[in-house]
Amino acid sequence: MTEDTTILCAPVQGITDCHWRNAHHQIFGGPDHYYGPFMRVEHGEIRKRDLADALPENNAVQSFTPQILGCRPQDALRMVRALAEMGHRVVDINLGCPFPPIAMHHKGSGLLQYPDEVENLFKALHEVEGVSYSVKMRLGWDDPQQWRDIVRLLDIIAPQQVVMHPRTGRQQYKGMLNYDEFAALLELCPYPVVFNGELKTLDDITRIKQVFPGIAGVMVGRGLIEDPAMLCPEKATANNYCELHNRLRDAYTQQLNGGEHQLLLKMKSLWEVFLPQAPRKSLKAIKKATTMAKYNVAVSELFYSMEE
Ligand SMILES: Cc1cc2nc3c(=O)[nH]c(=O)nc-3n(C[C@H](O)[C@H](O)[C@H](O)COP(=O)(O)O)c2cc1C
Repeated sequence: MTEDTTILCAPVQGITDCHWRNAHHQIFGGPDHYYGPFMRVEHGEIRKRDLADALPENNAVQSFTPQILGCRPQDALRMVRALAEMGHRVVDINLGCPFPPIAMHHKGSGLLQYPDEVENLFKALHEVEGVSYSVKMRLGWDDPQQWRDIVRLLDIIAPQQVVMHPRTGRQQYKGMLNYDEFAALLELCPYPVVFNGELKTLDDITRIKQVFPGIAGVMVGRGLIEDPAMLCPEKATANNYCELHNRLRDAYTQQLNGGEHQLLLKMKSLWEVFLPQAPRKSLKAIKKATTMAKYNVAVSELFYSMEE
């Protein structure tokens, strides 16, 4: 059904890290390409775990692009150079993050209202040899027309593609998707355009492709996290979901060095978005678990009940 559509797995901070991507690719597959959640500079340093997440040896998917948070040129340059040193030849620039503490510092979608700053950023990044870019963006910060001033600047970096989530940053992840502005972008943008937003089933993908036959592909985020078998329904088994879960739990057990409380919080945060169709009673028991032992019992019961 989707054979002729390029499908990209969206970056989702806190979930689609290298452990999730590797396990998802091996157990389910489906996306042609995976993106890493944005790397950022904090207190003058690139976060160590962001660097580890982008290391080629930690990425077993067949096709992966790391992402940097759109920000001040000097910080962005630092991140792109670090990624280039690892061997990455394409870097995605995030002009879409709507999180207010980030956006108010002229980062992510907050940058979209400052075309001069985007121009400076693109000019600086263009100077890095041997690296090409893609861009992931929204329509604007608080005005769905702001992309028009940004699209004119794309020639500076000639991106491989532009992924558009057709909302403003102010809308966060809710409210209507603006299909009219997306259509206008598709017409005006000389670079391949990918649609991203609220695609939860294979039928959704087919429909959006029918509405916008000119798109270069689609990117799926929450749909694929909620149901990792979204792109391959024949793999929607309790066994496969359980294997994904167990691999993540094992990886975080190692990463968090056995700290039970931290591990419990990390695993519970997965369940905020994973398998919302699972029995409510089991999901509740997971959320209420106070120790890993209780958590593990609740998770076993959940997968057992899904098998029945
Ligand atoms: C919790 C959360 C974290 C996200 N982190 C990132 C990120 O690191 N980089 C990025 O480009 N987009 C990020 N996004 C946005 C998604 O990639 C995607 O654009 C958005 O969820 C809309 O697509 P969907 O409706 O298919 O989920 C995040 C979204 C959520 C909900």
